[in-house]
Amino acid sequence: MLFQLSGLTKKFATSTAVDQVDLSVERSQFIGIIGASGAGKSTLLRMLNRLNDPTSGTIRFRGQEISSLTGAEKRAWQSRCAMIFQQFNLVPRMDVVSNVLHGTLNRRNTLATMFNIYPEKDIHHAIDILERLGISEHAAKRAQALSGGQQQRVAIARALMQDPQIVLADEPIASLDPMNAQIVMDSLRSIHDQDGKLVICNLHTLDTARRYCDRIIGMRAGRVVFDGTGDELTLSAARDIYGADSSFSEAATSTSVDVLADHKMPELAIA
Ligand SMILES: Nc1ncnc2c1ncn2[C@@H]1O[C@H](COP(=O)(O)OP(=O)(O)OP(=O)(O)O)[C@@H](O)[C@H]1O
Ligand SMILES: [Mg+2]
Repeated sequence: MLFQLSGLTKKFATSTAVDQVDLSVERSQFIGIIGASGAGKSTLLRMLNRLNDPTSGTIRFRGQEISSLTGAEKRAWQSRCAMIFQQFNLVPRMDVVSNVLHGTLNRRNTLATMFNIYPEKDIHHAIDILERLGISEHAAKRAQALSGGQQQRVAIARALMQDPQIVLADEPIASLDPMNAQIVMDSLRSIHDQDGKLVICNLHTLDTARRYCDRIIGMRAGRVVFDGTGDELTLSAARDIYGADSSFSEAATSTSVDVLADHKMPELAIA
């Protein structure tokens, strides 16, 4: 058993963002989390790597209680559990390879970090990762000089530099055009297929989730309302996730989930 979430709940002052979520992940998969805005997708992901602390409930990974880790143990967990964000979170004025090397920060001393000094083998490893993601030619450029899709691949390279066991991605393609979205999703997929890592990815379109994910988790109002494969994600399941109101009532007459997805959310035209 990899992850076991039990009764996982996160309350903010005025809302319950994640509400009594029970989930198990038994083996490495490529998992997509979908749901309307405010459904709790980001909060769930942020609790997994302890950027947000649960209000109640537990997170176990390989039997170890994650939700109670503090200090160095918590930081060690965060480096095993890399996070990729919609807005890349690179240092814009710093060169690409240094941004990637930032992935090693958790295991380096402060002085070396301050002077931006890295062991040669780490620099070679960073360039190998950039090469694998098809962007090594940009290694010496400032991050801000790259396109959005290239920057997101730098962020993925930085995550891989951590040598994580788990990669979490919070809407990694939401700011990208269709072509770059496809390249970034293919890169994430290869981290699962080639490296065997567990990847959990929040996605804002059904179609992308169905195309890339082994398993799709649908959230609504903080709760898990769907957990299955893309094929099992029927029109009625999609309505449970996104709600039957507003724009969905018209689309509900259609039998095609894709029509529904297109109706609610303009889909990326990934070929
Ligand atoms: N730091 C916070 N303080 C207060 N409320 C928050 C905070 N973060 C999230 N929330 C609330 O928790 C709920 C779930 O938010 P969350 O960001 O997890 O949703 P989401 O599914 O990721 O949405 P989106 O698709 O828009 O990214 C929302 O009602 C949101 O307003
Ligand atoms: Mg979110």
